Amino acid sequence: MILITGGRGAVATNLLSLLLADGHAVRVGSGRPDQLELPDGVSAVTCDLRDPTTFPAALAGVTSVFLYAEPACITEFVTTATEAGVEHIVLLSSSSVLDPDTNPVAKSHLDAELGLADAPMAVSVLRPGAFAGNARGWSFSIKTDRPVALPYPNAYADPIHELDIAEAVHAMLTEPEHRGEVYHLTGPQTLTFTAQLDLIAELTGRSVTIDHVTPDTWRQEMAEYIPAHYADGLLDYWRRCDGVPTVITDTVATLTGHPARTFADWIRDNAAVFAV
Ligand SMILES: NC(=O)c1ccc[n+]([C@@H]2O[C@H](COP(=O)([O-])OP(=O)(O)OC[C@H]3O[C@@H](n4cnc5c(N)ncnc54)[C@H](OP(=O)(O)O)[C@@H]3O)[C@@H](O)[C@H]2O)c1
Repeated sequence: MILITGGRGAVATNLLSLLLADGHAVRVGSGRPDQLELPDGVSAVTCDLRDPTTFPAALAGVTSVFLYAEPACITEFVTTATEAGVEHIVLLSSSSVLDPDTNPVAKSHLDAELGLADAPMAVSVLRPGAFAGNARGWSFSIKTDRPVALPYPNAYADPIHELDIAEAVHAMLTEPEHRGEVYHLTGPQTLTFTAQLDLIAELTGRSVTIDHVTPDTWRQEMAEYIPAHYADGLLDYWRRCDGVPTVITDTVATLTGHPARTFADWIRDNAAVFAV
């Protein structure tokens, strides 16, 4: 039995489809299982990675886990997984841990990785860069013909299609040669935020403009949605990516056997995100 944590997430949802397609027994854990929409026959369980009392039921009978990087109770998670007989954990970490100038985003992922360092079972780690799906955050502005507020329009990222991330995790869970490995996953191109928005405009036919705001203005506008320390971490990260192309890897091809999907592919596959 494979336990997928973070069940409502984009990677978890795509991973579930892939595992079901090749016949694996899967249980989906979520902090809010009532909000899951699962195919018939797939069981849901409460698995709140900040609440260890939910771990025993989630992990009973499980041999492999796809784990979101929540460090708060990682020690308790490993203890319960060990008692349950879990043999393999695949952690969804982040390429932010590769940055020597540790910020709050990197720290939480690094803490999750460190929490698994002495675990007795096999641990595999996926460190993706920027999810292409982050562009969903621009959809409200684009759909309402408002400018997209960006503090660092020329910051580079490496947008990765969620399907490529899910396929990479699928390979790590199911192909023994990847067991215990650590992979840095990127999209196929390094693109500034401006270039990403230009592509969205070109492929959706919508007019997209940018409001180049100060970091302080952006922090205030996001205060309702993003905790202050996390917003500061993002701003700090983007400042360091400003004008600096992201290093690209071929890990999608190594893990999946096909080239990474482009950001243009993601826009075409998610046209509904920007449709009015
Ligand atoms: N976004 C990036 O660029 C990026 C880059 C590198 C690494 N990562 C890692 O990947 C993880 C997933 O990133 P994401 O941005 O794609 O987040 P996401 O798909 O929205 O999922 C994050 C998790 O948050 C929980 N959640 C809470 N409220 C939710 C809601 N209303 N709808 C859906 N899920 C909700 C879900 O877990 P429950 O179902 O258990 O509540 C879900 O698995 C991040 O937490 C980070 O560790 C992200």
